[in-house]
Amino acid sequence: MTQDEMKRAVAQAARDYVATHLPTGAILGVGTGSTANCFIDEIAALKSHLGGTVASSEATRQRLEGHGIRVLDLNDVEHIGIYVDGADEIDASLSMIKGGGGALTREKIVAAVADTFVCICDTSKRVATLGRFPLPVEVIPMARAHVARQLSQLGGTPKLREGYITDNGNLILDVHGLHINQPTALESRIDGIAGVVCNGLFAQRGADVLLLATPSTVEVVKRKK
Ligand code: A5P
Repeated sequence: MTQDEMKRAVAQAARDYVATHLPTGAILGVGTGSTANCFIDEIAALKSHLGGTVASSEATRQRLEGHGIRVLDLNDVEHIGIYVDGADEIDASLSMIKGGGGALTREKIVAAVADTFVCICDTSKRVATLGRFPLPVEVIPMARAHVARQLSQLGGTPKLREGYITDNGNLILDVHGLHINQPTALESRIDGIAGVVCNGLFAQRGADVLLLATPSTVEVVKRKK
């Protein structure tokens, strides 16, 4: 299977997971990115099963609505049964780096509300140690230089994502060169820098289930309790 075929295969597996595990009429959280886009195309077939969806970005909202799938404001929703999203890297504990598509803040908010986080990706995203993929950090514009200095002190090399503004009107610093041995601690440390809105480490709230497309099959990996 090519990488595109693996994305489609894992999207179909996620559609089946949702059809089986999400009660009829319940709310589904939907992630952002090319794998999440394949998933959105698949769940058009589940429209009547879903009570509605919550989108993690404007791009996702538009794609869902393009399929005639109902999108709700998170403030009008008390409960999200399942959140399905991709990742840029995922390790054995199902901690992730996310935000390559810039939607990390809304993704983290939707993930926080969801009962179950289902990560969908192909084997290229599986790593022993997080950090080869540059860690995205969403920053209030006036704090850009201050946050960059602080991130440098943590051993990374922050680079401004040129010409990019998030859905929330902020900037992204992509931090290169981090070797992340303690993702939970680093997630808190970066969130503690004044001016940081959110960082792309999803370790405190990692995935509960990983659907991992390999060239021959889709494996199901559950987080160890
Ligand atoms: C979006 O901000 C990201 O968190 C994506 O979920 C992540 O980058 C995976 O995207 P792809 O499926 O396109 O690789």
